[in-house]
Parts: sequence; C-alpha cells; structure tokens
Amino acid sequence: MKKILVMHGPNLNLLGEREPGIYGNDSYDSVNNEIVEYVASKGLKCDVFQSNHEGALIDKLHEARKIYDGIVLNAGAYTHYSYAIRDAIAAIKIPVVEVHLSDIHAREGFRANSVIEEVCIKQISGFGKKSYLLGIDALLDFEENRN
Ligand code: DQA
Repeated sequence: MKKILVMHGPNLNLLGEREPGIYGNDSYDSVNNEIVEYVASKGLKCDVFQSNHEGALIDKLHEARKIYDGIVLNAGAYTHYSYAIRDAIAAIKIPVVEVHLSDIHAREGFRANSVIEEVCIKQISGFGKKSYLLGIDALLDFEENRN
C-alpha cells in the first residue's frame, strides 16, 4: 500500500457548517489536513477528492484503479441508493473502505441501509472524523492479511 485516495461525496465540502451537532465542528479543510498527516505518519501518500456529483465520483473511482492502492470513501447520501457507485466499486479491483462520520445505524431508517457495503471491504460508521483514520487502518490491515 503506497498511495491512498480519500473520497468525499455530496455535502461533505460543508463540514464544520453543516449540521455540526451530527457531523462535528471541524471544517472540511481541517479534517482533510488531519487525514493527510495521518497517512503521511504511516509513510504513505494520500490524495483527497470531493464531489457533489454522482458521475464525477464514478469517474474518479475508475481513474483511481490505475493510480491508487486503496480508497477510503464517504459516499454521503449516495451510500443509501446509488447502485451506479456500487457497480463502480465492484468494477475496480482495489480495496474500498466505506466510512461515515455519523452512526448511520442510529439515525433515520433510510440511512441504515448501505447499497455499497457488500462491495466494500469494511464499513466504519459513527466515529466522527476518526472514521476516516480508522478507514486507513482498515486498508493497511487488509493488505497485511493479504500478504
Ligand atoms: C454520512 C451519512 C449519510 O447518511 C449522509 O447522507 C451524509 C454523511 C456520514 O458521514 O455520516 O452525507 O455519510
């Protein structure tokens, strides 16, 4: 594992402003800085991508298959209904970890269902910004157990 891509889906660019009681007070930039620092502390490289558009996320997943060794993905609300994102994850051969800041199992009923869970190596939900760091750990564990 050398290069990791962290992907944020719709509305996550508003972190810090957006429903802080649910998603926390840290801004999008500060969360990303922590992620990048954490990845660097593991001796790895990391890029971050955010889009509010399903097609752009799918294009990035396709592109990523030739560039990155693993992906940490917070697909936002697409998690709950985007079969197109699910198919894109299934189509690429690199491991993808599904992460959520909030606990999707403890909120509205529609959030408890993830259509991407089955094609991801793990789902991590409810640890705030730490979910992303746990996602990185999950990618590293996955690789360690594969070798
Ligand atoms: C989220 C949970 C989703 O249900 C929601 O639509 C989001 C963020 C989370 O990180 O907790 O946009 O993925």
